[in-house]
Amino acid sequence: MPFGLVSAWNKRRRSKSEDHVDPWRYKPVEYWQLEDQNPPAKKRQGSSVFTLKEMEEATSSFSEENLLGKGGFGRVYKGTLRSGEVVAIKKMELPPFKVAEGEREFRVEVDILSRLEHPNLVSLIGYCADGKHRFLVYEYMHKGNLEDHLNGIAEVKMDWPTRLKVALGAARGLAYLHSSSAVGIPIVHRDFKSTNVLLNTNNEAKISDFGLAKLMPEGQETFVTARVLGTFGYFDPEYTSTGKLTLQSDVYAFGVVLLELLTGRRAVDLNQGPNDQNLVLQVRHILNDKKRLRKVIDPEMNRSSYTMGSIAMFANLASRCVRSESSERPSMEECIKELQLIFCTNSKGLSMAMHTFRMI
Ligand SMILES: Nc1ncnc2c1ncn2[C@@H]1O[C@H](COP(=O)(O)OP(=O)(O)OP(=O)(O)O)[C@@H](O)[C@H]1O
Ligand SMILES: [Mg+2]
Repeated sequence: MPFGLVSAWNKRRRSKSEDHVDPWRYKPVEYWQLEDQNPPAKKRQGSSVFTLKEMEEATSSFSEENLLGKGGFGRVYKGTLRSGEVVAIKKMELPPFKVAEGEREFRVEVDILSRLEHPNLVSLIGYCADGKHRFLVYEYMHKGNLEDHLNGIAEVKMDWPTRLKVALGAARGLAYLHSSSAVGIPIVHRDFKSTNVLLNTNNEAKISDFGLAKLMPEGQETFVTARVLGTFGYFDPEYTSTGKLTLQSDVYAFGVVLLELLTGRRAVDLNQGPNDQNLVLQVRHILNDKKRLRKVIDPEMNRSSYTMGSIAMFANLASRCVRSESSERPSMEECIKELQLIFCTNSKGLSMAMHTFRMI
């Protein structure tokens, strides 16, 4: 986005706020359309605009020690702002042929995240659009992404109640996006996956990366797209075959993350043979088979942290989320209710087992 456009946004933003436009009031879909150059309405005091110099200062000139990770958009650095606030700074680094697409994702991210506020969504603190440079500045999530926790970096693997808590947090974040309460119309995330589930020190999950998000026009349940966007391993089969995007596409991806939590395996594991790379295909037929289910539970998860009853309920929920037919998948609200029940079932089961153990 040219710098002029950013300042034009800011100008329009200011004049809009002088007009007392309420960002939470329902507006027709045309208002939200990205092409219409409307400025993002602001939540709280609004996200800040930073200069390139501030980004350099915050990250010690993008030093290797501050590097948190690398994704499709570019590198992510830990930074400290002049205010002393610790943040995560995502630097857009794209090959020339991808710049236009990246520009769009940058705008969607600023546009959408500026309007949202929920404890299970990563907050956007601000952005920088200085000359050709683009940065997104997020709240810093101390424990990084969920996939790293399930696949190696953690010395002690998450126990079952922690995994349930993460699933519940992520479900709440998605349910908020899907409900019209967020911006007046539902939002499909479109790139929900375990690297986009970030964890804070208390293992509270927050969803990140809205660059591919799509606002669903009111009253319209599907949106036909020309190109399928998202990440391999999390694609809703109905979306890939028909191009029809629905809120249920996120439910499918959520089901894949549930399977990662259950098995500790990756959504796509290129180290496996060609028929075993896709997690859903690997385990789908076992999920409702109580005898064989034990075989797919993450072997590194503390055995005394779960009951088989709660595992069976969880596996059943995951199997429904990844159904090929999108209309057969549960809604995110239903997922929240079931996960709460699974959490209680597990706690009760474990305390009963403990009680019995003490008696003998
Ligand atoms: N707000 C944050 N706080 C802490 N770490 C973060 C934050 N945002 C991103 N990271 C880290 O940086 C890594 C790279 O993030 P990024 O979103 O660019 O890529 P990705 O999600 O892994 O892949 P993709 O680009 O395909 O979405 C993440 O996996 C995470 O570990
Ligand atoms: Mg990400």
